[in-house]
Amino acid sequence: MKVVVTRAELAAARAAMAGRVAVVMTMGALHEGHAALVRAAREAADSVLVTIFVNPLQFAPGEDLDRYPRTLEADLALCEQEGADVVFAPTPDVVYPEGPPSVRVSAGRLGDVFEGATRPGHLDGVLTVVLKLLHLTRPDVALFGQKDAQQLAAIRRMVRDLDLAVDVLAVPTVREPDGLALSSRNRYLSTRERASALVLHLALGTRDVRIGRAVLDAEPGVETDYLERVDSDSFTIDPDGDLLVVAARVGTTRLIDNLLLPPEGRAT
Ligand code: PAF
Repeated sequence: MKVVVTRAELAAARAAMAGRVAVVMTMGALHEGHAALVRAAREAADSVLVTIFVNPLQFAPGEDLDRYPRTLEADLALCEQEGADVVFAPTPDVVYPEGPPSVRVSAGRLGDVFEGATRPGHLDGVLTVVLKLLHLTRPDVALFGQKDAQQLAAIRRMVRDLDLAVDVLAVPTVREPDGLALSSRNRYLSTRERASALVLHLALGTRDVRIGRAVLDAEPGVETDYLERVDSDSFTIDPDGDLLVVAARVGTTRLIDNLLLPPEGRAT
């Protein structure tokens, strides 16, 4: 496995990659969910490139940019173990050589609702770095986790709206044995908060907005941001939508999760 940090090193490594190339973009602090992405990338392509970059653009002032876990050595071990061919782990000045970019991608309406309403500018920051990383890595296919469903919808929308020549593949959420969705932010949770955090999964499991909200409200130390049924493409609220989405603060940690509803689970 080759680890590269500069644009020149990346260009050389990319040129040497054979066949169909898959990219898995991450912010590091890798866990089994990322491992599943890399494994799915191996299935989907001949060569796999992983990017590890904590993107300052997608953190608002006061969010957890500074305390976001940075575990590069362990991340590289996971990438190696899962069979990545190249890891691009740049510093911010490599990705943004002229400082924060003045031209950015707008997520449009998707950037204003749900995650966008609570985290203004977040999805614009995500799309801007994803577009840059797509240009830098030139993959045939890019894989993203279903866990960040709104990010996935925004990326798919960008690919359609801006005619990007890349296939986007969604990979199912990986969960702890009890159902908690894996997230790099789970490591912020105390033992007690970890127990409370399970309520997001339990609320989704009711498959009902009203009952799910009651389940969340009954859990001490959990503050609900939203629980809604939406269309997974547009994120418009829809009683017949194919996705239940939830966000809640557990202690100081904000967690999100979602559940795709098979047709038989939808409202009749
Ligand atoms: O999902 C993430 O880890 C990030 O939002 C991404 C897609 C790597 C962009 O920074």
